[in-house]
Amino acid sequence: MTTTLALRRPDDFHLHLRDGARMASVIQDSARRFARAIVMPNLNPPITTVTAALEYRSRILACLNEGQDFTPMMTLFLTDHTSPAEIHAAAACEHIYAAKLYPAGSTTNSEHGVTAIESVHTALEAMQEAGLPLLVHGEVTDPHVDVFDREAAFIDRVLTPLLQRFRKLRVVFEHITTREAVHFVRNGPDTLAATITPHHLLNGRSAMFDGGLRPHLYCLPVLKREEDRQALVQAAVGGHPRFFLGTDSAPHPRTAKESACGCAGIYSAHGALELYAQIFESAGALNQLEQFAAGNGAVFYGLPGNSGRVTLEKRDWRVPDTLPFGDGEVVPLFAGEVCHWSLTDA
Ligand code: DOR
Ligand code: ZN
Repeated sequence: MTTTLALRRPDDFHLHLRDGARMASVIQDSARRFARAIVMPNLNPPITTVTAALEYRSRILACLNEGQDFTPMMTLFLTDHTSPAEIHAAAACEHIYAAKLYPAGSTTNSEHGVTAIESVHTALEAMQEAGLPLLVHGEVTDPHVDVFDREAAFIDRVLTPLLQRFRKLRVVFEHITTREAVHFVRNGPDTLAATITPHHLLNGRSAMFDGGLRPHLYCLPVLKREEDRQALVQAAVGGHPRFFLGTDSAPHPRTAKESACGCAGIYSAHGALELYAQIFESAGALNQLEQFAAGNGAVFYGLPGNSGRVTLEKRDWRVPDTLPFGDGEVVPLFAGEVCHWSLTDA
């Protein structure tokens, strides 16, 4: 007898869809699994205006099949120059759901990000007033801080004062990676939530060096210690309402990762839900998956739950070694390994 798991259709609250032919290669992986996705704005150039976000949204919709039920939730990329007027326009736009803070230089295409938190105070005030959530890439960029400590330093130096100053601003601490972040969110105000990726739930940093350097496991924030991974699993499966699913699926061409200076990002959309199911099952908490994947995030964003359903079945499949990506290929998370849950398209 096959074991099946029917869930309310989930949402991906952190997704990189890229653009053009690359987007066309990956979008179905997300659309088959998720009803909605928060779309990251770190294109080159970044999506800094409502107009650019709406144009990007049109390109996304044009990539979908006729009548396909997948809603891209657009975001703005904050810069030192984002005006309160742009924030109010974004908040008034039904297709824009948040604005993203990338500290300048923190990750892929973040050159135009925020150089000091003070430079976005007026934008943050406008967001608080208009009810537009703030999404944060929570790492300091201070070269004196060890790369493995940058998330913890961000909590102390940036996030704690920010939450004190903007008490009504809803903040999503994206792709958390440490025990410190789990503790901080759990004990934080109701205005603070966090997304957790499949790759940070599956791997500690040793996996990046397992038998050699594994560039396809390099992402930012970088994978942390095994104790951190375990804390993330406990947070994801623990039923706490302010932890939810965000894949941070971030495809790069294989050649850009297998390079002397490989870029950060892990592609997971091809099997994200199945891998989360595997993680929850290993933790003995499959019954918590629906709340994490299809409940908590929508509540935090003030959205209705999705009405459709998605079905997984307990059936092994081997994750492909590579997948097409524009005119090249991408090496997906779990490449060559066996995942025990499969998506049924019934
Ligand atoms: O690993 C990452 N890749 N982290 C990010 O924050 C950005 C992302 C990307 O866009 O490739
Ligand atoms: Zn991301």
